[in-house]
Amino acid sequence: MSNETIARQLAHRTIRAFSDQTVNDQTMTELFAVMNRTATSTGMQSYSVIRIQSLVKRQALAAICRQAYIAAVPQLMVFVVDVYRNSRIAASQDCHLTAARDMDRFFQGFTDAALAAQNMVVAAESLGLGTLFFGSLLNDPDQVIELLELPELTFPVVGVGLGYPAQEPQLKPRLPLSMKVFSDRYDHNAFDPSLLEAYDQEMHVYYDLRDNGRRSDTFSRQVVTRLTQSLEKRAKILQSVRHQGFILGLDP
Ligand SMILES: Cc1cc2nc3c(=O)[nH]c(=O)nc-3n(C[C@H](O)[C@H](O)[C@H](O)COP(=O)(O)O)c2cc1C
Repeated sequence: MSNETIARQLAHRTIRAFSDQTVNDQTMTELFAVMNRTATSTGMQSYSVIRIQSLVKRQALAAICRQAYIAAVPQLMVFVVDVYRNSRIAASQDCHLTAARDMDRFFQGFTDAALAAQNMVVAAESLGLGTLFFGSLLNDPDQVIELLELPELTFPVVGVGLGYPAQEPQLKPRLPLSMKVFSDRYDHNAFDPSLLEAYDQEMHVYYDLRDNGRRSDTFSRQVVTRLTQSLEKRAKILQSVRHQGFILGLDP
């Protein structure tokens, strides 16, 4: 049994090239309404979204992300943890809690922002729009914070781009569900080398449009490549989080 929503979700693929067709204001209003309706941890709505319209800022963001095409994505947004708003609400009632700065609030905001972004993406895809997440803004969170003038108790989570697609990428294969879905406990036997080998083969025949149409590496090799890459700023992300006023809570 299926429906149109599920069919769209099962057809999800990231779009990285967009047509000139503009996404009209009414569509964006509707997408923000969907975003606003997303479930939110303890009802606190600890996230905000910043639309990036200035060309200069778009280019700066694209440079941080090391992905030039990002500057030209028709609708560009950055979802951020926002505990600042609620701390102001509390302060306006003479409440200056240090607990507002706990990492717990940070993770609530991080989850909220990610869910809101995904909810918007599902809605956008249901309207025939193409979508893109870009986590590469975390290549340099301090620069993003400065660029977007993010106050304390905020932090960038993920970027989202939207527009009408100008490409039709293949569906990117996924690991079999038996390696991901467990019952009652983590299934230590779910790691099945023969299933992985089959998946590696599937990935190898997937053409990644990002890679000039070259065949993808196997998943196993991609994992090693990704895990070996380490950007200095990304490795020190908690320092940026602390700099934004959150208390890491690592002291005994
Ligand atoms: C949190 C998150 C961050 C991502 N960051 C980037 C990014 O910085 N650049 C990019 O090109 N794709 C990015 N992606 C897209 C993934 O590469 C893509 O979803 C994945 O390869 C699967 O491909 P598909 O979405 O086409 O199925 C991101 C996706 C997620 C969920």
